[in-house]
Amino acid sequence: MNKVVISRFCWMLCAFSSLFLSNGIKAGNPNGISIIPQPSSISVTSGSFVLEPSVSIYTTSKDEDLQSTIKWFRDKVAAATGIVLKQAKGSKSIGIQITGPSNALGEEGYKLEVLPAKINISASASSGVFYALQTLLQLLPPDIESPSLQQNIPWVIPCVEITDSPRFKYRGMMLDVSRHFFTKEEVKRYIDEMARYKFNILHWHLNDDEGWRIEIKGLPKLTSVGAWRVKRTGHWGTFIPRLQGEEPTYGGYYTQDDVKEIIAYAKKKFVTIIPEIDVPGHGLSLIASYPDLSCTQLPYGVNEGRKFYTRDDNALCIGNDTVFSVLNTIFSEVAQLFPSEYIHVGGDEAYKGFWRKCPKCQRRIKEEGLKDEDGLQSYFIKRVSTLLASKGKRLIGWDEILQGGIAPNAIVMSYRGMDGGIEAAKMKHEVIMTPASRTYLNFYQGETIVEPPAGEAMCRMRDSYTYDPVPVGVDPEFVLGGQGCLWSEHIPTYRHLQYLMWPRGMALSEVYWSKPGNKDWKHFINKVEHHFLRLNAAGIKYSTSMYNVIFHTHRLNDYDFSIELATEIEGLDIYYTFDETNPDPYAQKFTGEPIVFPIGATHLKVITYRNGKPIGAQINMPKETLLKRL
Ligand code: ACM
Ligand code: ZN
Repeated sequence: MNKVVISRFCWMLCAFSSLFLSNGIKAGNPNGISIIPQPSSISVTSGSFVLEPSVSIYTTSKDEDLQSTIKWFRDKVAAATGIVLKQAKGSKSIGIQITGPSNALGEEGYKLEVLPAKINISASASSGVFYALQTLLQLLPPDIESPSLQQNIPWVIPCVEITDSPRFKYRGMMLDVSRHFFTKEEVKRYIDEMARYKFNILHWHLNDDEGWRIEIKGLPKLTSVGAWRVKRTGHWGTFIPRLQGEEPTYGGYYTQDDVKEIIAYAKKKFVTIIPEIDVPGHGLSLIASYPDLSCTQLPYGVNEGRKFYTRDDNALCIGNDTVFSVLNTIFSEVAQLFPSEYIHVGGDEAYKGFWRKCPKCQRRIKEEGLKDEDGLQSYFIKRVSTLLASKGKRLIGWDEILQGGIAPNAIVMSYRGMDGGIEAAKMKHEVIMTPASRTYLNFYQGETIVEPPAGEAMCRMRDSYTYDPVPVGVDPEFVLGGQGCLWSEHIPTYRHLQYLMWPRGMALSEVYWSKPGNKDWKHFINKVEHHFLRLNAAGIKYSTSMYNVIFHTHRLNDYDFSIELATEIEGLDIYYTFDETNPDPYAQKFTGEPIVFPIGATHLKVITYRNGKPIGAQINMPKETLLKRL
């Protein structure tokens, strides 16, 4: 058993501390116990442990990962509390002992026992210790998350016994760094923020039509040309093309040294990075760099956020052998850089219109005896899969890799619902679930007219929370887990990324970590509200869209319609007006009965309150918008 014991420096101090506790410091976290994701089992025992300068961390292990985990914890505690926890080599009674793989809690599981005088953490590997320490941080007051020193806070931890291990081994977050570029420091922050909720995979979407983001030494134009586009500000998808003489100044890329640094950083947070090189579609930045790789071979530019799909030829020409030698260069360097056993090759949304008209592609179809362009896509993915296998890697692809026949051993990432995942699992392929309506965190999370522009559909926190990655009839053995996705078309800044990621990321952390029977929406919402305090302390932005009104419309006859108002969470009062004034608790209260839109009114204005205080955004809903939803 890998055992860390956090203990008081000596029993004398311990006794003093207990006395001190019995003389008045309130035991336990004043906000209750709010651990996200919900642990497998937790029992609250009496008393509390106070973190103070006399506390030491004991280990007997010299394991490098464990030492760096302890350093991370000590640094974090020191920043917020000023307490520098001592680190001591284990003694007879306390220390780290290694257990074999028979440990019932698995590699990422842990046991955490907080007693009035001592905290015991046991785990079979340092990842388990890391997760135990993440849980321990969540037992401390929210200000522990502050990066700067907080004064006069009793750093009290309630006594508990927790046994915990994840439901899935793949608990991912996808980050698209192509549509908008995020710096090396921002990617590291993303890793920290994922890891706090026990996610362990960063799926890094490194190229798309709007930018190539990884240095490939054998193909220098990918970063000298493909990483840059003209700068546009405003509403993505409406931007005008590059003007004559305009320099492409927006973008950036990660050098191979940057990539190594980020991989090493992620490893310390027990996050594995899976790179995605999206081919054969989504390829304008690759094609802008090397124009002979498309069927048309026209000189396309890196897309600046303008509509182009089906108009510009953004797919690789599968009839052209040069494409495969370029891919060999790319995947050789990527395979060497990333220790992950998987490489994601995209495979999604490849427009086949240019393949239909391309003599080279058509010749390939004929020569290889393929049925059609779906068969051509399948040929491509199988060839890339063989290429990856020659480098010791396994292929992951979006669910279109099923079209025309799946490559042996390929892993399907199911995003157009769960059907692709179900089909693949039934063929005994491993799958990763990320159905868009449940996990695309770039989608709207609340009423669209008060949200900043987002992906085209709705994915409320409850949609994320209530989804189960193992559909009925699917053998769970084939479901590796799932992820959340952040496509960055509408995410120009890291701050806005946080707004989309939280709190829905917390919902997904319970989906992928917690046992289904331990999930409870009402309890979860209480915990989320407590975690808002933690995010405040950490300086992390989050959305409060869960407090906003939801509108349901019903047609009554040719002229009239009614509206029902709802909220995602319980316990809110909704007030409304139709007379252009701003609603407050003296306005009409929504009782649950549908309300008929009055003749002459142009807007329905609504707001939520809780305990007499405004809590949601005021929404001024135009009649026209409601009519469109009938
Ligand atoms: C995708 O959303 N195109 C994977
Ligand atoms: Zn072609």
